[in-house]
Amino acid sequence: MVTKAEIRKPEEEKTAGTVRTKNMGLRGVTVADTRVSFIDGENGVLIYRGYLIEELAVHSTFEETAYLLLHDALPTESQLKEFTRRLVEARQVPDFLFESFKKLPKEAKPMDVLQASVPLLGMADPDLPDETREANVNKAIRLIARIPIVAAGWHRIRQGREPLRSDDRLSHAGNFLWLLTGIRPDPETARDLDTCLVLHADHTFNASTFAAREVVSTRAHMYAGAAAAVGALSGSLHGGANAEVMKMLKEVENEKDIPGWVRKQLDSGRKIMGMGHAVYKTTDPRAKFLKEMSERLGKKLGQEKWYRLSTRIEDAAVSEFEKRGKTTIKPNVDFYSASVYHLMGIPGDLMTPVFAVSRIAGWTAHIIEEKFAEAQEKPALYRPASEYVGHYCGRMGCTYVPVQQRTRDAA
Ligand SMILES: CC(C)(COP(=O)(O)OP(=O)(O)OC[C@H]1O[C@@H](n2cnc3c(N)ncnc32)[C@H](O)[C@@H]1OP(=O)(O)O)[C@@H](O)C(=O)NCCC(=O)NCCS
Repeated sequence: MVTKAEIRKPEEEKTAGTVRTKNMGLRGVTVADTRVSFIDGENGVLIYRGYLIEELAVHSTFEETAYLLLHDALPTESQLKEFTRRLVEARQVPDFLFESFKKLPKEAKPMDVLQASVPLLGMADPDLPDETREANVNKAIRLIARIPIVAAGWHRIRQGREPLRSDDRLSHAGNFLWLLTGIRPDPETARDLDTCLVLHADHTFNASTFAAREVVSTRAHMYAGAAAAVGALSGSLHGGANAEVMKMLKEVENEKDIPGWVRKQLDSGRKIMGMGHAVYKTTDPRAKFLKEMSERLGKKLGQEKWYRLSTRIEDAAVSEFEKRGKTTIKPNVDFYSASVYHLMGIPGDLMTPVFAVSRIAGWTAHIIEEKFAEAQEKPALYRPASEYVGHYCGRMGCTYVPVQQRTRDAA
């Protein structure tokens, strides 16, 4: 058997032609060209198809932003009307989906249900086998229209209630709130959620978008890519962070000494959820809108404590990180979205599905770009290298010993 010293492959036997740069987590490695979005992490800039997120958050709607992401240009009035009509028309999900939900355990996590539903939606899509660009745009519109229906439908069914019917007069955001809460939102609340959806719609090669692009780079269909993306988003280091922030706010609700609580968290190696970012080294430009919204909604509803708690955690964490030499860790998009969603009546475990309700626009835009090589010369199958650090016995391989002859020592 090999000794410990032999475990690493000799340098000269590494595969010829492999790029020797190793980068754990692919930080800063450029793997493709994209026209969909751009981040300047040092200066806190986010752009969708050329437009600053600040402009879109104030002036655009989710429907218009989704069009922009899919079509690489803002729509004319008639194009937007037609796109919105198609989104409304596609709001229906196949009956078998909600029938199958009724057989699921009520404790099933909404993100798991959402992920499982994506390929089921694909099975009911008449365009599934058609790989033209036009068919992929049709699939994207159906996915964007149906993800909120699925998320809200599961929430109703797990409560033992029937899913509600969509209200075609309501916007994408307003209809989602109606389906979820059973209350038709006032225009201001619907607009606030709409702004949240604009803010979350795309974010370059984040983990879930990369997962989607990687899957479709094998020529798998859009639904396979979108299902992978939902799975990636569910993790607490990605979209799952908003639900973790809400748990944190509830945990510190009665805490007198928030700086002490933050210190303890960090001393014991735990994270402050909703803070820090793989790309932003300054405040996430989306967080500033959500912070303002959290304060405003808190005041409007007479529930200012969530905003107050959030700012106290932010201040204590930023100061504690600075003391530890980590000066770039600031609130990200998930930090204030937790209190905003809570104030809109969205339960904690549905906060990450809300992220998916928005990000499906970016995922599908990236999937189309990947499939049709719209930003580079030709499509490329993703296939990174890894460094083998396992047992190594030379080019001939280790000697295979039949099972009867193996001793415990040799194992
Ligand atoms: C998003 C995240 C994974 C990025 O991590 P990253 O790429 O390692 O970020 P950085 O390189 O800036 O991290 C530098 C250091 O700060 C630590 N750090 C970063 N964010 C932290 C946080 N929220 N709480 C505690 N420590 C944090 C990292 O673990 C790293 O520590 P180390 O040097 O001892 O290894 C990280 O910030 C995080 O886990 N945040 C909390 C989860 C979250 O909000 N995710 C949603 C992101 S939109």
